[in-house]
Amino acid sequence: MTVPPFPTHVQIQTTTACGAACSICPHPVESPRWSNGLMTDGTFDRIVNQLCGRPIEYLSPYLMADSMSDRKIFDRIEALRRALPDTHFEVSTTGMYLTPKIAEQILASPISELRISSHGTTAEEYAKTMPGVKFDTAMANALAFIERWKAQRPFKLCIVCLWGLWSPEREAQIEAYWRDLGVEISKWHVNSRADQVDLTIFGDGSEDTTVYARGKDDPPYLCRFHRDTQWLHILSDGRVTLCCMDYKQEVILGNVLDSSIEEIWNSEQFADIRAKIRGDRPTAAEFLCNRCEWHVSRSVYEREQGNVRSATSQEHQLLPSASQM
Ligand SMILES: C[S@@+](CC[C@H](N)C(=O)[O-])C[C@H]1O[C@@H](n2cnc3c(N)ncnc32)[C@H](O)[C@@H]1O
Ligand code: SF4
Ligand code: SF4
Repeated sequence: MTVPPFPTHVQIQTTTACGAACSICPHPVESPRWSNGLMTDGTFDRIVNQLCGRPIEYLSPYLMADSMSDRKIFDRIEALRRALPDTHFEVSTTGMYLTPKIAEQILASPISELRISSHGTTAEEYAKTMPGVKFDTAMANALAFIERWKAQRPFKLCIVCLWGLWSPEREAQIEAYWRDLGVEISKWHVNSRADQVDLTIFGDGSEDTTVYARGKDDPPYLCRFHRDTQWLHILSDGRVTLCCMDYKQEVILGNVLDSSIEEIWNSEQFADIRAKIRGDRPTAAEFLCNRCEWHVSRSVYEREQGNVRSATSQEHQLLPSASQM
């Protein structure tokens, strides 16, 4: 995979809070140990200045948290939009944050896509997957938001529901529920976040539907979502981390306050990590990518891409999509 001179996809963590305590996510366990919190205006401005005018195709102003917990997020989205008029801006949140006031602000903001994470449609399913999110309030917020969105359709909207947690029959019902409401559903196969979440709490024990096919045999390897060759992930204190799996902040590649994005992206340290990901350099068994389901053999990836091209639209969604977070 050729590495462009500057990243084309960027994730910026403007804040570290999310309040949802999801069982499928390492955030509730790992975030209390983080030293970083809300991004300062100085750090944010420095990043925006560096991104301004660059050919960034895709940007999400969150990373391992929820940008709707950042009071300044709408001003920040405006600033990013001024700097990057043609970039696809995607925001992901839970129904908890879609209060009438925030809904109004989101609908008026210059984003390109909103994703609402909802890993079920009942109080029991919320309690098991997103225990910090109050089902009644979140669902009422989401349903009201969808109706308001339908009146304007100012950007793309979809529901993200993790697949592999419930029985196939229940999944079909969840899918029908959102389709009947006239909203797109993105079905993402749940993964272990590099062995950082316990998925054994799901299923009835007869079959483990959470298992993600570990597509790794012979090298060369690659990151299924090109996190090392297209994406830059900036933590709220300016540190650059390898990817959205790095909840323990294990692979830090520099800090945008000490070096330019260009220098970090083209550094020896980044090149070394890319070589490790390809399998060209030795790695310890506990290296982040070795624990991650998205680290696959190139041959497996190419076969999957062939399947994507020949899949029906139903099957297509369950195959890896370019912007899965
Ligand atoms: C880390 S969250 C950040 C944004 C926001 N807090 C949210 O939940 O939408 C980004 C996306 O990752 C998804 N996610 C969390 N844990 C996951 C897992 N174990 N496997 C696959 N996707 C996961 C979430 O559902 C969400 O759609
Ligand atoms: S998935 Fe999102 S909302 Fe849930 S704990 Fe992780 S960051 Fe928070
Ligand atoms: S393989 Fe997994 S851990 Fe490695 S860069 Fe990709 S997403 Fe991150």
